[in-house]
Amino acid sequence: MAHNHHGDHGDHHAGHHHHDHADIDWGEMAPLLEAQAELFTPLYEHAMAWLAKRQTEPGLVVDAGSGPGVVACLLADTFPGARIVAVDGSEPLLERARARAERLGVADRFGTLAGELPEILDDLDYPADLLWASRSLHHLGDQRAALAAFADRLAYGGTLALQEGGLPTRFLPRDIGFGRPGLHARLDALEAEWFAQMRADLPRSVAETEDWPALMTAAGLRPSGTRTFLLDLPAPTTDRARAYAAAVLTRIREGVAERLDADDRATLDRLLDPEDKASVHHRPDLFVLAAQTVYTAVRTR
Ligand SMILES: C[S@@+](CC[C@H](N)C(=O)[O-])C[C@H]1O[C@@H](n2cnc3c(N)ncnc32)[C@H](O)[C@@H]1O
Repeated sequence: MAHNHHGDHGDHHAGHHHHDHADIDWGEMAPLLEAQAELFTPLYEHAMAWLAKRQTEPGLVVDAGSGPGVVACLLADTFPGARIVAVDGSEPLLERARARAERLGVADRFGTLAGELPEILDDLDYPADLLWASRSLHHLGDQRAALAAFADRLAYGGTLALQEGGLPTRFLPRDIGFGRPGLHARLDALEAEWFAQMRADLPRSVAETEDWPALMTAAGLRPSGTRTFLLDLPAPTTDRARAYAAAVLTRIREGVAERLDADDRATLDRLLDPEDKASVHHRPDLFVLAAQTVYTAVRTR
C-alpha cells in the first residue's frame, strides 16, 4: 500500500485532540501546504492539461479541501471561463486562497466556502461541472458517504477528479554515505502506521477498501480515467526543493521519532542540521521525485 501524504503530518501524540480534524492543525500546516503545492505546480499543470483535454469548458469548478488555494488558482488558469469555489474546513487556509486569487488577478471569479466536508457542499448555489478533490478525501471519516455527497453535487455530465495515492515522495538515494541504508523505506512504514491511526481517529471513521474507481461507481458515477503524474526535480536541486525536503523530514522527525531506532534518529538529525554539509540543506544528491494519481468519473444520471 502506498500512501502519499507527505505534508499531512500533524500533531498526532496520543490523546491530544485539540480540534475537529482528527488532530491535525490545518492552520498551522499552511506554510508547508502552500510550499508543497507551489513546488508541485508542474505536476498539477500536467494533471490539469489532462483534465482539460477530456472535458468541455466547465461553468463551475469546486475544489473540495482546497487548502491554501494553490491548486484552486491553477484550476482558474486552466479554465478561464469558469467560476471557482474553494471549499475547506480551515478559514485561515481559505484566507490564503483568497489572497492568492487576488494576487493572480482571478479574484472576480473566485469564491471560498468554509465548513465541514462533505456537508458544507449543500451550501453551493449551483451543481459543479468539475469537482476536484486532491488529498482531502482521505481526511474524511466516511469516504464512501463523502464520495456520494461529491457525486450528488455534480451537474449531469459533470466530472469528479480525485487525487489520492501514488507513491511516497523520495528525496535521497538508498545509501547516503552514513547511517543504515534504506531510511526512506523505513520512514514509509512508520508513515503508513501513522496514516492508519490518523484514519482510525477521524470522527465517524469507517474502514474502506481504497479502490477509488469502485467507490466512484458505487456513488453512481462512471469512471472515465486514471493517470499518475510525476514530479521530477533531479539533483542538483533548488533551494525551494531543499526547504521542502527539510520541512517534510522535520515533520516526520517530530511525528515518528520515538518509533525510529537510535541510528535512524541520528541520521535524520544530521540530515536536518543546517551546519552539517551532509544535510539536505547542502548535499548535492538531493532530489524530489513524487508520483500522484488522479481518478476521474462522470455523472451520467
Ligand atoms: C492535505 S491537505 C490538501 C490541500 C490541497 N487540496 C492540496 O492538494 O494541496 C487536506 C485539506 O483538507 C482539509 N480538510 C481536512 N478535513 C476536512 C473536513 N472534515 N472538512 C473540510 N476540510 C477538511 C484541510 O483543511 C486541508 O486543507
